[in-house]
Amino acid sequence: MALASDPGAGQLQTQAQKDAADQNFDYMFKLLIIGNSSVGKTSLLFRYADDSFTSAFVSTVGIDFKVKTVYRNEKRVKLQIWDTAGQERYRTITTAYYRGAMGFLLMYDITNQDSFYAVQDWATQIKTYSWDNAQVILVGNKADLEDDRLVPAEDGQRLADELGFQFFEASAKDNINVKQVFERLVDVICEKMSESVNGEPSPLANHKGPSLQDTPPDKGGCSC
Ligand code: GTP
Ligand code: MG
Repeated sequence: MALASDPGAGQLQTQAQKDAADQNFDYMFKLLIIGNSSVGKTSLLFRYADDSFTSAFVSTVGIDFKVKTVYRNEKRVKLQIWDTAGQERYRTITTAYYRGAMGFLLMYDITNQDSFYAVQDWATQIKTYSWDNAQVILVGNKADLEDDRLVPAEDGQRLADELGFQFFEASAKDNINVKQVFERLVDVICEKMSESVNGEPSPLANHKGPSLQDTPPDKGGCSC
């Protein structure tokens, strides 16, 4: 587990590159967590990576990342998970990191209508700045706050269907669906990669996408 605490963007990139150079894995996926400020992006990542949660709100400045290795069908998949600031003023910095991301968790807060209305805009940002074949999961967070719910689960599911995304409700606080969300994203990325080795157009061949250099040499495709 690595936490880049408040370094400059250059240092972060260097740390990420060093981390990618460590070959102790079969595949490496770069993932991004996006969505409005305060929906719980940092909380979801901390719950997943460290199994911790705090009710204090410390808004993310710019961007940060954590690393976690998961095992899927006897393959070590190293996840480099980028946690972006939701605040508008960091948009130029954060969108620069979309390129090369293989998967996104697009989050809203089920108790906050605005965060749900913003999902369409976030989806447009993904389309604009990322690789065409990036996989996206829509996550309605704070599912523990049922009494304060303003976004019905059906609305989340409907929007996800319209956008072609998978959908989960989750709670970073009560640890509901957190592992499942990340594992599902890994699985859909693996499925996409398997399609490419089975003769369909390769997502890895896309000009905006990650190159095969992003996986260790001699390990094409994914059987995870
Ligand atoms: P930015 O960094 O500003 O983009 O915000 P963020 O999306 O990273 O939000 P953050 O994870 O910092 O959480 C915002 C607030 O919501 C904090 O006070 C968290 O404790 C709270 N929170 C996060 N997830 C949950 C959850 O699942 N349930 C509840 N009840 N509160 C949550
Ligand atoms: Mg944050």
